[in-house]
Amino acid sequence: MHDIIRKLEEMRERARLGGGKRRIDAQHAKGKLTARERIDLLLDEKSFEEWDMFVEHRCTDFSMHKQTVPGDGVVTGYGTVNGRLVFVFSQDFTVFGGSLSEAHAEKICKIMDQAMKVGAPVIGLNDSGGARIQEGVASLAGYAEVFQRNVLASGVIPQVSTVMGPCAGGAVYSPAMTDFIFMVKDTSYMFVTGPDVVKTVTHEDVSHEELGGAGTHTTRSGVADGAFENDLEAMLQLRRFIDFLPANNREGPPKRPTSDAAGRIEDSLDTLVPDNPNRAYDMKELIEKVVDEGDFFELQPEFAANIVIGFGRMEGSSVGIVANQPMVLAGCLDIDSSIKAARFVRFCDCFNIPIVTFVDVPGFLPGTAQEYGGIIRHGAKLLYAFAEATVPKVTVITRKAYGGAYDVMSSKHLRGDVNLAWPSAEIAVMGPEGAVEIIFRKEAGDKKKIAKRTKEYRERFASPFIAGHRGFIDDVIMPHNTRMRLCRSLRMLASKKLDNPWKKHGNIPL
Ligand code: HXC
Repeated sequence: MHDIIRKLEEMRERARLGGGKRRIDAQHAKGKLTARERIDLLLDEKSFEEWDMFVEHRCTDFSMHKQTVPGDGVVTGYGTVNGRLVFVFSQDFTVFGGSLSEAHAEKICKIMDQAMKVGAPVIGLNDSGGARIQEGVASLAGYAEVFQRNVLASGVIPQVSTVMGPCAGGAVYSPAMTDFIFMVKDTSYMFVTGPDVVKTVTHEDVSHEELGGAGTHTTRSGVADGAFENDLEAMLQLRRFIDFLPANNREGPPKRPTSDAAGRIEDSLDTLVPDNPNRAYDMKELIEKVVDEGDFFELQPEFAANIVIGFGRMEGSSVGIVANQPMVLAGCLDIDSSIKAARFVRFCDCFNIPIVTFVDVPGFLPGTAQEYGGIIRHGAKLLYAFAEATVPKVTVITRKAYGGAYDVMSSKHLRGDVNLAWPSAEIAVMGPEGAVEIIFRKEAGDKKKIAKRTKEYRERFASPFIAGHRGFIDDVIMPHNTRMRLCRSLRMLASKKLDNPWKKHGNIPL
């Protein structure tokens, strides 16, 4: 018995050492933590239950049978984040560069299957050289098994990826199919083909970082939802992030106690919208002033910043926030912002998270770049996402709500449950200047007349009242009461039940 226990301890010790001290030191020298150190930071203390510590690869080619490491390059199991169950896999770069073997993939699949059965999120910490080259097609098969599970789990349990090292080739498609991707600055990268292949095929000279670093994916491609300074910050922010997510699609949003009163008045909001309708203001100020304790977890802050998305809480319960940002492109909807917000709306709808929408949108961004890029198809995504969502939807129009963009931004007509407007709201087909230019084209030369017409139009149409007369707006509220009105609306909507017609699935314009 003693011998077995001693052997067990030895095997555990070997597994914990991964690829050995030299490689662990190399990992640290790069500013990276090991797979196990990351898990320790991510999960509540002593909550981690590891599975498959003794799994080894079965490859015999290239003398691989002489090189086995228990665990085979990925640490898997479950534990808790602030007391809530999560499953986790953490690739160990010190073991064959974290590369994915058949056995490595089986370990990931095992925890994904279990997470689906019990209804808990899966968190992947990716740090891998990709397919285990020595295993060939067995490794590709392993990836495909993971991909298939990513798809089946989509909309059932939240899936979150944090890329903390290399992630290249087809390997990128597992994170890509999860709900959120975070990266670590300077030490992580994602690309379908690396700089060498790019050089050969397109003759472009590009570094790893330029091609697929955190900067690229959080500002240019929109592939990643956020970037963190280092591994430590990544794990701490991931803990904060997980707190906003329900465990699965059968649960409501998580609730946690708050001391922030639902009736909190924010007088400063009364002067947030400038008198001049062409001047910008920061929509994030409004968001931060209405959510519990100002705690807003913004996603993709540097990509398509003309729309703001992220999670907050109202009366302790998670809500998804979508808001036009007048500070960037005057808050216009364009291709990137439509895609960004549509995917977020769909996540919230999958997981029963109410959506709060703040509207200040002058319309869709004009131009050939947008039209040739397919703004029709991409703008339709956001329209589709809001229209199909059955979760509670509360909308506040702070200023402009013009044209098709008015319809798109969670309007009453797309089954908005509670649609409110500030007194500064302008709900119309277009802005006064544009409208007058078209209707009174014949008077275009007469500046005085045009100014008069514009003034008349503004007084008559650039207000919340025409929409209010028709019941498209449920009420015009004072900005300082916004939090109170939102909290009341969401409380009223807590038992909302709405089903879409039966279908296999809709056909969102992809
Ligand atoms: C087996 C691998 C490996 C791999 C790295 N290693 N990648 N072993 N299969 N894919 C091993 C190395 O041999 C080395 O072993 C250790 O991991 C660390 O690698 P280094 O090269 O020393 O590290 P570094 O300089 O940091 O470079 C990391 C790297 C590089 C950029 C990831 O290793 C690399 O380019 N690897 C190959 C990447 C690749 O082409 N993968 C296949 C892509 S195709 P020792 O024993 O020396 O420590 C793919 C298809 C997926 O993934 C398709 C899904 C559908």
